[in-house]
Formats: sequence, C-alpha cells, structure tokens
Amino acid sequence: MTAIQDIRAEEIRDSRGKPTLRVVVVADGQEGSFDVPSGASTGEHEAHELRDASGGMSLALRAIAEDIAPALRGMEADQRELDAALITLDGTEAKSRLGGNTLIGVSIAAARAFARAARAPLYEYLRSLASIPPSRAAPLLFVNLINGGKHAEGGSPFQEHQIIPDTDDVREALDIVGRVYEKLGARIRAGGSEPGEGDEGGYVFPVKDVETPFALLAETSSGEKVFLGADIAASSFYRDGAYDVLGQRKSAHDLLRMYRDFRAKVGLRFVEDPFSEESFADFSALASTEPDLTLIGDDLTTTDPERIGKAAEVRAIRAVIIKPNQIGTLSETLAAMKAARDNGIDCIVSHRSGETMDDFVGELAFAFGAFGLKAGAPHRPERRVKYERLLALTTAV
Ligand code: PGA
Ligand code: ZN
Repeated sequence: MTAIQDIRAEEIRDSRGKPTLRVVVVADGQEGSFDVPSGASTGEHEAHELRDASGGMSLALRAIAEDIAPALRGMEADQRELDAALITLDGTEAKSRLGGNTLIGVSIAAARAFARAARAPLYEYLRSLASIPPSRAAPLLFVNLINGGKHAEGGSPFQEHQIIPDTDDVREALDIVGRVYEKLGARIRAGGSEPGEGDEGGYVFPVKDVETPFALLAETSSGEKVFLGADIAASSFYRDGAYDVLGQRKSAHDLLRMYRDFRAKVGLRFVEDPFSEESFADFSALASTEPDLTLIGDDLTTTDPERIGKAAEVRAIRAVIIKPNQIGTLSETLAAMKAARDNGIDCIVSHRSGETMDDFVGELAFAFGAFGLKAGAPHRPERRVKYERLLALTTAV
C-alpha cells in the first residue's frame, strides 16, 4: 500500500511579492509540491485564505505542521480520501479554520506525489480521478492584455481586456498574442501615454471612457484571428445597489445596454462577471438578449458545484472559471468541472492575479480538454509557465 509519509510547507513570495505557501507531500518515497496562488478580486463565496494579520503565512504553516500533517501521515495515498479528510479536519463551510490556501496546497501537492508513486503522467492521473467530457481538442488562450480594476491602480475600471486567438494550435496562439502585445504597446505610446503594467502583465493606462481599451484591442488585433473578451469583475465596483463606473452610477440595465453596444461596435464575444456576484437574474437577462455573447461566471460561481448548478438552472452562463483555490481541494475542483460539463457549461481553467511559478493549471486544462486557459500576459514568467506547460502537452501527447 502506498502511504503518505510526510507533509511540510514553507513560505515563499508570489508575483506581487506577498507571502504564500509551498507545500510538499511525500508518498511512497515520491515528492510532489504545489506553490499556492492568491486572488485580489476575490468572490464573497470563495474558500477563506488563512493569512496572519501582518500578511505572513505563520498561521497557515502552523495549520499544516500541527493539524494536517499529524492527522494525514500514514494515510493511504488516495485523492478522494485525502480531500475528504482535509474537509472534515477543517470542519467549516468556508474552510476558515485551516484555510483554503493550505488545503489546496496539500491537495495538489499530494496529487503530484500520488501520480509519481503510480508512475503516471500527472494529466493521466487527473483523468483517473474524474470523468469530465472535454469541450475542445486544445483549450483557447484567454489572454489579458489590458489590466484594470483591482489589478491596476489608475487604469480602466474593468479588470481584464482580453484577446482569445481562435486556434487549437497553442504555439500559433502564443505567436498571435506576442504580435498583438507589441503592436498594442506601440499604439498606446503613440497615443501619448507611457503604459504601466498590471498584476497579470497587461498594459495599464488612464482611460476617459470604458470603450477605449476594447477599441485599441480591436484595432491592434485586426487581421489576426482573435475574439475579444473581458473580465468586468463587476463586484469590485458595485456599491449600495449600483455600479460605479468612472465616477458615474450605473444600474444593471445601463450595463446591459453597454455590453450590447460593445457586442455591436467592437464585436465583444466573451464577458466574465458582467454583473455583481449575486446577480443571477441580470446574467440571465443579458444571456437571453445577446445569444452571441458568451457569459462566464467567476465571482458568481467560485468553482462551487452548487453555485454552478444554480447558474445552469437559470441559464445565467455558458462558461465558468475554474480556480482550484476558490474551493480548496482538487476533488471539489473536479466536481465543479463535472457539474459544469454535465450542464453543458464550458470550463475555463484560470490562474490568480497573485501567482507563482507553478504550472498546474496548464496541466488541468489539458487533462480535461477545457474550453479555455486564462493565465495573463505571457511575457511574465509566472504566466508563461502555464501556457508553456499546455504547449508541451499539446505537442507531445
Ligand atoms: P483574481 O483575479 O485572481 O484577483 O481574483 C482573476 C479573476 O478575477 O479572474
Ligand atoms: Zn474573474
């Protein structure tokens, strides 16, 4: 029998320079590790992130050393049992006692150790855990080239303005992204402003209106086979029943009209979190009036099978963001992906704005033929490794 021999962790820094966790699990003499990411525009329903008041990781490290490791050492190397044990040990709805960040660290590190112990490639091991119908031969890349919202002080109120190359060839997609990234930078400079860089590596510049970033993306990607997309992250500027867009208070209906306008004018094709995180009915209204606009849930659904089921029931979304640390264990992440696919919803596996050099999301997107992989601007190393992992798997397997 393969058993868990050791679980340990250390504090490392994420791409924002903030403390996070590296967790190592040893099973059958094989080590697996995971470097945990961290969000900034976090959904209300996400698993709790355990962090000291000072921002450090000592509480999380103690949870692993004193609660988790002693309870799991010697346990059989079985993902479902391990994740169930983590959930029971924590014992709270929001994973607030031990922290979703500690639990996902242990869960994914264990998956890597178990895969090595089984002498299986990680994607094959993942496939052995769940049967999730694929959406595509290779995921589309959702690449955020203009950052805003909580990821970019002084920029657009909308969090992400993306291009999505329309190809199954990941190398070709990265080449397209590289070309548009260069052109866009030159275009922003030609317009008179020296762009900054946001958390996910996209350009940041002051905007007078919300349409400009999309118009620039449309202009600099013309001639390339790309779709345009956005993560509005609307909860981040929703206050007292209205949306604060560049100092103007807007209703959900105003936003709905604005998205229809973007669809018509710049051909916006994908939109994530167009309304705040409890606004299932507003999502449904937009989805039914704009059938050519694909609505995506993130803060709305928080990688939670129940919330995904609810979104499916009211036809709020056609795609869903999958972030393992939003829910806290690998098994629950796979349950969320399965819930989505069983309801005809596509999965877009995603990084977080605070990232590490870990490439797990590239592996996960490949393993289950996800519709998309969203990992930021690929000139940044912590983003690039995820696309590179996907590229390596799509060319080798
Ligand atoms: P986050 O942003 O990691 O800061 O939550 C990413 C997203 O909203 O998709
Ligand atoms: Zn989002």
